[in-house]
Amino acid sequence: MDPPTAPAPTAAPAASPGPTSKSLKEGGTIEPIREILWGANVGVRKYETAEELPEELRKLIIRLMVVQADTEFASIQQHRPWLDGAPTLEDRWIEARIVADEARHGLQACRILRDFGEEGQQYIDELLGKREGQHKLDAFNIAFDQWSDVGAFTCFVDRVGVYQLRAFQECSYGPLARAMPLMLSEEQLHLNFGFSVLKRMAKDGSKYAGSKEAAQIAVDKWYPRALDMFGHSNSETSRKAIAYGLKRWTNEEARERFIREVTPLVKSMGLELPSPDANRRIL
Ligand SMILES: [Fe+2]
Ligand SMILES: [Fe+2]
Repeated sequence: MDPPTAPAPTAAPAASPGPTSKSLKEGGTIEPIREILWGANVGVRKYETAEELPEELRKLIIRLMVVQADTEFASIQQHRPWLDGAPTLEDRWIEARIVADEARHGLQACRILRDFGEEGQQYIDELLGKREGQHKLDAFNIAFDQWSDVGAFTCFVDRVGVYQLRAFQECSYGPLARAMPLMLSEEQLHLNFGFSVLKRMAKDGSKYAGSKEAAQIAVDKWYPRALDMFGHSNSETSRKAIAYGLKRWTNEEARERFIREVTPLVKSMGLELPSPDANRRIL
């Protein structure tokens, strides 16, 4: 069968084009952002290769990419039983898409690690050997026993993932900055799906799957693990990452933004959020 072809171009919309589309239309150049946008070196050219990174930043990027790839591969293991266990046809299809997306995100993080030569490759080999229960962050060592776990995990934990990725958007390491837009658009599907699963359970549990009570139990179980994922509030590493132009926010700033975002969402489903201090392991 022939592969699907891109739709034929249509006339430009009547609305006035933005600077990018105007430049495209006129055959001009689209300039990427080449300068560091925040931290101690604002205005200096971004780092474009692993070789030119200062040692401390090099180590930091490796560490963050190992954690990133580990979470992507771990979540595949967590989702796997639901590929053919999700309650509806559509849910199974979305599960399959999520697993494919997480595999691609893992690949993308590993490609960044590969640029660090033999050292990077060693980390990749270790990552590929990790099984359930051996992952860095607690949230990724917990099995999805119930369908409600899938809903709450994707609603909360994937949403934290989005905050982590957004923090890298337009960061000082060019190859990492350029990986962000596609990953972010795919993650958006995951967290919207999580919200819809919990909402359907809370509203229509008996006709759909589980119950409102099951949805509440899952919220109570995953919310503290999601808050932990942001890391320690007074982390020196997160301050360094900001100074290097690598991350945009401190752990605490990102956690507070997340809490502000999910509070009305959970309320809209008729569910309750536990206190942000309840059942926490990392403060
Ligand atoms: Fe992902
Ligand atoms: Fe995801």
